[in-house]
Amino acid sequence: MRSPVRVAVTGAAGSIGRALLSRLGSGAMLGPDQPVILQLIELPTAMDQLRGVAMELEDCAFPLVHEITLHSDPATGFQDTDYAILIGARPRTKGMERSDLMRINAEIFSVQGRQINDHANPNVRVLVVGNPCNTNALIASRNAPDLHPTQFTAMSRLDHNRMAGILASRTGTNASDIRKLAVWGNHSATMVPDITHGNIFGQPLTELVDQQWYQNEFVGRIQQRGAEIIQMCGQSSSLSAASAALDHMNSWVNGTHGDDYVSMVVPSDGSYGISKGIMFSFPVRCRFGRYQIVQGLPLKPWLVDMIKRTEEELLTEREMVRDLLPAETEARH
Ligand code: NAD
Ligand code: LMR
Repeated sequence: MRSPVRVAVTGAAGSIGRALLSRLGSGAMLGPDQPVILQLIELPTAMDQLRGVAMELEDCAFPLVHEITLHSDPATGFQDTDYAILIGARPRTKGMERSDLMRINAEIFSVQGRQINDHANPNVRVLVVGNPCNTNALIASRNAPDLHPTQFTAMSRLDHNRMAGILASRTGTNASDIRKLAVWGNHSATMVPDITHGNIFGQPLTELVDQQWYQNEFVGRIQQRGAEIIQMCGQSSSLSAASAALDHMNSWVNGTHGDDYVSMVVPSDGSYGISKGIMFSFPVRCRFGRYQIVQGLPLKPWLVDMIKRTEEELLTEREMVRDLLPAETEARH
């Protein structure tokens, strides 16, 4: 058995937080032989609910959960943490677009970026789930000048998993047999779900599903899936979001399989002509705890046009929060 690692989770008493913690405690994120210390962070007004969550986790008697600490102060919550999962934010409700949340949630992530910078393990790996997650991750990263931008990521794995799940139903196959899917860009209605390099047991997805269905139905369905869940459930996705967050961290830490890849929102290094520095979802492969953007995938012209639009949206979002983005320092690159 290894030594325990520290995992800080913000918004731990919320819907996603609760769904995530029970599976995290049973090893779904870091594997069955990695004990964890859970550092749970909530707003001061939600500390009673957080105590209730901690009691339930205690009652699960998970062998892997070494210790649980509760925090209303992010400075102590992020102390020495090896992993930080930033969920705590206002969720979107019926009829709201993600951009409506921009200013409400942006402040939270500038404060948390600074606190992670000052208190976390210098090798911390950060996943931002709270929306708008790409831009929140950019804000957190830019407010953490002593850490490398690649330590900050955001979540497009839910969109990636949605693609796999819906394609599995469509083709009558198992989601885990569907390879080489990609989500490009923003976790928003402009995201670009790309199946053009995908296959099932070597047979191209473009031969297995109808092109009209892919372009005219599937793309919009993935882009609008979050809104559809809100419409149905009256609140945003939580089970699937929690599951995707665990998958994201698991791939990052334990690696991706063979030559397959997953989608992660990471800082653009200029690959595929995307503006350097913005947080953009790319296909990535993970090895030895690091990720690399998959290079050289040929893209159809209509996908390139869509990728340009989602990039433009992210550049607009960046302008909206410009005042929360301290200048980049040379030392970070
Ligand atoms: P929720 O309202 O059920 O829970 C949010 C929790 O965060 C609450 O308990 C609240 O007290 C807490 N919180 C708020 N501000 C905080 C802060 N500054 N520090 C610590 N805790 C704080 O919401 P939820 O359903 O769990 O969703 C959380 C976020 O995740 C929302 O922004 C939602 O839009 C987003 N989300 C993202 C994805 C994705 O794919 N990236 C998917 C689903 C939901
Ligand atoms: C989702 O994709 O389910 C979440 O990002 C929630 C939302 O606001 O769409």
